[in-house]
Amino acid sequence: MTIKTMYLDIESLKEKQTVTVEGWVISNRGNDKIRFITVNDGSSIANLQLVIKGELNAKFAADAISMGASIKAEGELHLTPEAKQPFELIVNNLVLINNVAEDFPIQKKETTLDFLREIPHLRHRTNLFRAVMLIRNSLMFEIHKYFQTHDFINIAAPIITSNDGEGAGETLLVDDESKDYFFKQKAFLGVTGQLHAESYAAGFKKVYTFAPTFRAENSHTSRHLAEFWMVEPEVAFYELKDIITLADDLLKKVISNTIKNYPAEMEYLNSLQDGQLIPTLEKFLSKGLTVMDYRQVVEELKPHADKFEEKDIHFGMDLASEHEKYLSDKIVNGPVAVINYPKDIKAFYMYQNDDDQTVAAFDLLVPGIGELIGGSQRESRYEKLVKRMTELNISQEPLQWYLDLRRFGYAPSSGFGIGFERLVMYVTGVSNIRDVIPFPRVAGQVKM
Ligand code: 4AD
Ligand code: MG
Repeated sequence: MTIKTMYLDIESLKEKQTVTVEGWVISNRGNDKIRFITVNDGSSIANLQLVIKGELNAKFAADAISMGASIKAEGELHLTPEAKQPFELIVNNLVLINNVAEDFPIQKKETTLDFLREIPHLRHRTNLFRAVMLIRNSLMFEIHKYFQTHDFINIAAPIITSNDGEGAGETLLVDDESKDYFFKQKAFLGVTGQLHAESYAAGFKKVYTFAPTFRAENSHTSRHLAEFWMVEPEVAFYELKDIITLADDLLKKVISNTIKNYPAEMEYLNSLQDGQLIPTLEKFLSKGLTVMDYRQVVEELKPHADKFEEKDIHFGMDLASEHEKYLSDKIVNGPVAVINYPKDIKAFYMYQNDDDQTVAAFDLLVPGIGELIGGSQRESRYEKLVKRMTELNISQEPLQWYLDLRRFGYAPSSGFGIGFERLVMYVTGVSNIRDVIPFPRVAGQVKM
């Protein structure tokens, strides 16, 4: 039995029931007669209070057990429904597994996020990171569950690839230290699993990848990592509007189940955002998704041009994060799907609209973060795709297999990519992407 299940299934707990707990000490206070040690077992941010009475204190040398130590305790449960913690454990056996050395860097006093970023291997032993990582895990589980119960199959797109799937020139090279290429050609860490997913959508219909992706982006921002996880569904026979509906439904199910299953963590994170986090998420859950054409977005932003660093608001511009945030924070006041972007600021594989200027793409923008999802209907017409690649100087030969999909029983498909860490930011309210992944990798830094 974990502490999480004890809290979730509180009605089934019985007075004097024997409980064993293994975990890490959060606090230790008291005297020789009575001592209270709170312990966390990693299942929840909620702790269990151990009560050590009388001579057992001397027997177990309980006063010497420091915060952070690993212990094992056994005792009888005492239900205290009227108290702040609804149950505690009256200890009859206590084993100190390993105390902490004096230089254990996590201390009771407040530490800064900057300091904790220097110790990614230990920072999960704070309330904040414990909560964030539990929510991250829930979101990951819920995403797999959603797809697995909606007829999708998971496919493993390769991590090592021979092409730049986005054509954006942000690839990281893979090689050993020998002079010749290990693979006898250039190989890269994949920037996306999309092209491989498209090949499997043509046959399995509904597929998804959920894997690390890599980008050599030199942007030192609070929303970019060099290694991040992406969720990429791809569905044959779907058009743009279908894939937007899928994105909206997926997000809503995943977020609402997480709020339901992790009440202690969500309440805690909510308290760090002055009580604004859960109401904001619930507002999104209860409303239909706003969809706005890129042209309309430009018109909506124009009157606010003076508020931006980039003030030249015009058709053809790429929306910077300041514009994206203003649109979702201030104008829409919630998530918004922007559709039909100019083709010149989007990837080569997107379906070209009849106006010859825009593509059937969408970005889902959310308050506080900006772009959470990027997706599109794919260009299904072989000749149009070749022409676009030529215009963009993308060589055809390495992507001939991808072009060929259009000749072998192709069914037009659509898909999108969720930046998983950005989703974790959105749901936890954490404002720096480095704090929602266990071991962040950014330009100039690979710690551990
Ligand atoms: O918009 P992007 O570049 O789209 C694709 O890669 C498509 N192939 C997806 C598809 O249609 N299957 O990236 C998708 C999402 C972005 O919206 C963003 O949330 C996230 O991935 N992302 C990053 N997250 C963290 N660090 C980075 N450097 C990121 N780059 C993109
Ligand atoms: Mg994008």
